[in-house]
Amino acid sequence: MSCSKEFIELDKSIHDRDSFNCAETELNEFIRTKAAKHMNIGISRTMLLPALVPLPNGKYPICAFYTISPSSISRETLPKKLVKKLARYPVPVFLLAQLAVHSEYQGQGLGKITLIKALEHLWEINSHMRAYAVIVDCLNDNARQFYVKYGFEVLCGHNGRVRMFMPMNIAGQLFQ
Ligand SMILES: CC(C)(COP(=O)(O)OP(=O)(O)OC[C@H]1O[C@@H](n2cnc3c(N)ncnc32)[C@H](O)[C@@H]1OP(=O)(O)O)[C@@H](O)C(=O)NCCC(=O)NCCS
Repeated sequence: MSCSKEFIELDKSIHDRDSFNCAETELNEFIRTKAAKHMNIGISRTMLLPALVPLPNGKYPICAFYTISPSSISRETLPKKLVKKLARYPVPVFLLAQLAVHSEYQGQGLGKITLIKALEHLWEINSHMRAYAVIVDCLNDNARQFYVKYGFEVLCGHNGRVRMFMPMNIAGQLFQ
């Protein structure tokens, strides 16, 4: 299957969630059973790249997706050099909650494209409602290495995961 060029919002009546497989059970389960619910209740938004050709059931397979939501972090978790300028309140951030590429497409540059699209989306939102940084909680060491490659830095441990961050002004340099 080949992919569309545009990321669009998940629509469970159009997109085939069950055929998505990135080899990580948690992410497969998320797109299959949680992503649409979380959009409906208003806690996150999932954008995806559909395949060009539908399945026999009329729905389009998902090549890659990302999920974003607003969040906040304690200012004390940030490196000291960044903390000084911040008010003594929780710091607003964007959470890159999920990002995955279908196994059939891994290793062909789609992960990089998906990450850049997610950052571009957040940069656009940031022009309306500011957040200090983008954070991501890494599922495993592979994910950590992937985000390190694009400039994310380790922030702290969070629920047994490594939490990484990229200041919004750094992300914005990609799009200015
Ligand atoms: C991690 C993931 C998104 C990468 O997607 P991908 O399409 O395979 O990645 P790309 O082909 O775009 O690779 C981009 C770059 O990242 C590197 N990269 C990809 N996976 C990597 C890994 N596991 N560890 C280190 N580097 C990795 C590639 O070598 C490539 O570098 P290059 O441009 O210098 O060659 C994908 O493997 C995936 O969906 N994994 C399962 C879900 C997951 O772990 N998501 C992260 C959730 S926190």
